[in-house]
Formats: sequence, C-alpha cells, structure tokens
Amino acid sequence: SKDDTIRIDGDSYPVDDFTNVTSSILSKIKRKLHLRPSHPISILRNLIETQLNDFRHIHAFNPIVSTRQNFDDLGFPIDHVGRNKTDSYYINRSVMLRTHTSAHQLQILSAGENKFLVSADVYRRDEIDSSHYPVFHQMEGVQVFDIAEAKEQVSREITKMGQFNYSSVLISNEDEKDSDTSIDNRKNPIQACHPIEAANSVGLHLKHTLNELVKRLFKDEKELKVRWIDAYFPFTSPSWEMEVLYQGKWLEICGCGVILQDIMNKAERPNEIGWAFGLGLERIAMVLFDIPDIRLFWSKDPRFLDQFTFNEIKKFKPFSKYPASARDISFWVDNNTDFHENNFCELVRSVAGDLVEDAKMIDEFIHPVSKRRSLCYRIIYRSMDRNVTNEEINQIQLNVQKEVQTQLGVTLR
Ligand code: PHE
Repeated sequence: SKDDTIRIDGDSYPVDDFTNVTSSILSKIKRKLHLRPSHPISILRNLIETQLNDFRHIHAFNPIVSTRQNFDDLGFPIDHVGRNKTDSYYINRSVMLRTHTSAHQLQILSAGENKFLVSADVYRRDEIDSSHYPVFHQMEGVQVFDIAEAKEQVSREITKMGQFNYSSVLISNEDEKDSDTSIDNRKNPIQACHPIEAANSVGLHLKHTLNELVKRLFKDEKELKVRWIDAYFPFTSPSWEMEVLYQGKWLEICGCGVILQDIMNKAERPNEIGWAFGLGLERIAMVLFDIPDIRLFWSKDPRFLDQFTFNEIKKFKPFSKYPASARDISFWVDNNTDFHENNFCELVRSVAGDLVEDAKMIDEFIHPVSKRRSLCYRIIYRSMDRNVTNEEINQIQLNVQKEVQTQLGVTLR
C-alpha cells in the first residue's frame, strides 16, 4: 500500500519504526542552493574552489545515503548520539539524509582520487534559532600522500604554496608555528600505525592549506587570528577544530584531522595517508555577507536574491524587518514520557515552516506532589518577506498545540 513506502524523486523506500523525514524536509532536496551561481552559498563555494583549484570539485552526490556510508564506514560507534532518531533524518533504518559530507569520503577514496572537494546539502534535526536550520551546506576537503614520501611531498607542496607568512596570520597558540611539537599525544593521538614524521607532515600541510584559505576568505581583516583546538571525530586522529577571530568573536570554521588508516585500508590504499576537513558554508557566508538569519538563505524574495552577483562578496543590505510575534506554550510531561526538544522543534517547523524564527524553553519546574515536569516554550514567529496577521499566527499556534498534544504525548496546561 502507499502508506508503507515513501517516494522520493521516482524511487520508493519502505518505511519502518525509524522513519522520521517530513515532506517539508524532503522538499529542500531540490533547492540545491550551492549550485545557484549568484546565491551566497554558491559564491562562497566557488571562491573556495578557486583557491583550491587543483582539487577535483564534486557537487552532484545524492543526499540520500545508507547509514553505512554516513556512520559505519567512518567508524562511528554503534551508540554514537548522531545515530539517534532525535538527531538525524531517517527514511528508514538503513537509509537516511546525510548529516555530513564525510559520508562520501570512502567512496571517493576508493575511486582513487587524491585531492577533492565535495560540496553538498546536509541535514540534521536541531534547535530553532537564527543560526540553526535543519538543512545546511558543507564542503569536505581531502588530500592524500604516500606514507613513505609524505615528508618530502609536503615540503615540496609547501614550497609551491609559498612559505606561510605567519606575520600576516597570528596563530594564537605560539607552539603551533611548528605544529609537530604541539600534538598532545595522549588526548589527541597520532595513530599507532603512522610513522610520526609522516603524520606530523600531513597535519602541518592541512593547517597550512586552511591558513592560506582563510587568509584569502577574510582578506579584509587587518589582523586575522587563527587558533587550533584539539577535537575528536570518530574518523580522524589527531583531530582539530579551526577557529578564526572575526570582529572580536571566535568563529568555528571547520573540523579536520588525519584520516583514520582503517578508512584508507578499506579504500584499498594501505600505503597512503591523508587529511580531511569539513567546512560549514552557512556560518562563513553569514559573516562574509553580513546575513543575520540563516533562514534568509532559503528565501525566494528577490529583495534578497537580487543583491548578490556571481563571484562577488558584498554585504547584505537588510530590507525592513516585519514584526515578530511571540506565543508561549506550556505543558506537563509525564514521568514515563520521553520528551526530546528536537522532536518539539521538528513539530513546530512542520506546522509553521519558515515562519518560525526561534523556539526556546523559558520555564521548567517539577510539580512537588505529582513529580510531573512542566515546560514552557516561547516561540517567536516572523516572516522574512511579508506581514503576517495575528489571526494567522493564532491559527498556527492552535495547530502547534494540537499536534504537540497528539504527537508528543504531553498534556497542555
Ligand atoms: N564531518 C565532520 C562534521 O560534520 C567534520 C569533519 C570533516 C571532521 C572531516 C574531520 C574531518 O562535524
């Protein structure tokens, strides 16, 4: 019957107890913002590709992947939070919307590529505010070296790129100038199978490449400051997060690291070693183009879209904001009900679409006798491109109340 399958783009998928994609999420697949030449996400992609012009640029992978591609191939433990239904969008138990571009690492490495960039839309269930949207864009970069030659290959490449000019980018941690001495080998280890020199050279090359990239992207900053934070990802070691000081705030640019050798082995490339990074395009585009709300990227309003031109970074000129309206919703959660905030946010998005700007818990208490939890959320509604009447918001809020009660098993107060 038509109830136990989902059709997406002509393909049918069986549904099961993991299915949690909604039609509003699936409708985003066809937007492909990263491929619209004068859209800010695409302008930024193109700028990065120009800087890394000898990488193979890949854009056309389908966002529907297997859980194996997204998690197992990358060594995610079976109990990793990212696998939860509350955090990811599942078509069914074995098919999902990719949560990151790393889902394509193994297939591309297996095809023999040495240097590539994959740009794509990725999907995550998340909270609601001006910097979170359930669909966003990432760019994965990977470069591979021969283990035996890594040191020589890296020094040749670095000479080619030009010795890094450390006086124009201030690295906040002074040790990082010779990063091979700064790896904390207990918390963020070099893999035991890697010769230390090869691993250090590859890590240095990764940092050099990203330093050059941000120097180009943030070329108008007088004093660019970069810092590297030890990090953890299931598929790299050592791993880092790169942050850039932009107008007084540390901005997370990407996660990165030396690819787990197990992945190279699965790709049948045991004698090679590689680095990978995953850049979040929205976060960078929001600061470069001065875009205050992540929902604007999805706007079809010409007052937004017509401001941008291929190959140009210019500051967004806000058009007048329409007024916001706030509505509170309070409910009791029974002790045996498993309430998860992401489920609540997903429900609000599925009812209100892009009219919801923010949803935050503003009050929580436990009834002294019944021990039931009471939660109150404040939802802010606002359209990016039109005036919304109070009646319309009231109707949406009524629908939210109805759905919260029936779908989340809570009791409205
Ligand atoms: N895929 C990671 C994320 O989305 C980022 C990453 C990419 C980290 C490549 C390391 C290497 O959070």
